[in-house]
Amino acid sequence: MKTRNTGPPETDWMNDLLRRYRLAEPVWVTRPTMPPLEKYTEQLQTIWDVRWLTNNGQFHQEFERRLAAHLDVEYVSLFCNGTIALLVALQALRINEGEVITTPFTFPATTHVLHWNRIRPVFCDIDPVDFNLDPNGIERLIGPDTKAIIPVHVFGTPCKIDAIQAIADRYGLEVIYDAAHAFGVRHNNRPIVRAGDLSVLSFHATKLFSSIEGGAIISRTAAQKQRVDFLKNFGFSDEETVIGPGINGKMNEFQAAFGLLSLDTIDEEIASRRRLTDVYRKGLRGVPGVGIQSDVPGVLHNYGYFPVLIDQEVYGMSRDELYTLLKEFNIFTRKYFYPLCSQFSCYATLPSASAANLPVAERVTKQILCLPLYGTLKEATVQAVCGLFAEFHAGTRR
Ligand SMILES: Cc1ncc(COP(=O)(O)O)c(C=O)c1O
Repeated sequence: MKTRNTGPPETDWMNDLLRRYRLAEPVWVTRPTMPPLEKYTEQLQTIWDVRWLTNNGQFHQEFERRLAAHLDVEYVSLFCNGTIALLVALQALRINEGEVITTPFTFPATTHVLHWNRIRPVFCDIDPVDFNLDPNGIERLIGPDTKAIIPVHVFGTPCKIDAIQAIADRYGLEVIYDAAHAFGVRHNNRPIVRAGDLSVLSFHATKLFSSIEGGAIISRTAAQKQRVDFLKNFGFSDEETVIGPGINGKMNEFQAAFGLLSLDTIDEEIASRRRLTDVYRKGLRGVPGVGIQSDVPGVLHNYGYFPVLIDQEVYGMSRDELYTLLKEFNIFTRKYFYPLCSQFSCYATLPSASAANLPVAERVTKQILCLPLYGTLKEATVQAVCGLFAEFHAGTRR
């Protein structure tokens, strides 16, 4: 089947598909969970009454407490967003020179925070099944300037934390996990955000759990949390003392209030996404050339994303053709993560950014597609997406 650059191919078959499958309203890759407006309005009234808008207000304090209990961790520091939290995590561990080993298959923030801390990113290839940094590739990248490892729990699937920690211990490296996708994920009944030296969450509106914008650092010790809290508030340890070059990373009361309400509905949201994930898996399992992930034994997943891999040879259509065609049906998927961070012009000249160093990541980035997934998505829509995937494949065989 031939596709054009603009619009779908004009065949009777395609017209028939458009008539049967085109959705009346656009379906986006995600939609935020909105708390009941009247509850948020109540909180706004309190903010108006108290006139405390930011700087560790009452909603901030309550959110930090409840989040720690929910995540089953001791030390949470809230942030205005996940990117500033990552930036501060590096500063908190005094990693501000040399090299850090990381994955190219991630959101730009993971790599950019290294650059902003004057650290050279060293890209390591990924595992073809979980899409996370492959521990087998780490050791050969360690050199005299290596300071730390920053893996990402991509799409919420836990990294191989034991293998990574063993390497870090052997070479005396710090490990900071970018856990932006891993809200509430547990591994062997332990929160995944307890792994490594620090973990960083994002509560951006596109995430499973949101405080509009927001993020958090999960510390291991009270001393670590204290340093993080000073650094996110310009370095102030009291009104007259600045312990170091801090930044403004504070979460405000409007975000904290929203986040508190999101906590009330997160379990329901995950349960809905889990049900929809099952529908996707059943609907796509038999479609040749569409690779799907399975649950990992021992892991409590959060079902934040539904990624598929499109094998063009077997499926009969490339990921890009499929992505474009789906738009005609009002289905808006996302190529998370394409391009790789190693392909951005600012990093492409690094020796570790070469395609030869990253064969798995180079393949996955061309094949990956994240399909719509959010709690209020209709099961019938998921079935329609699966039906279309099968129809497209059948069409390419004609
Ligand atoms: C893997 C990853 N790291 C970091 C971030 C940055 O988080 P934020 O948008 O909260 O700054 C995101 C998403 O936005 C992400 O997906």
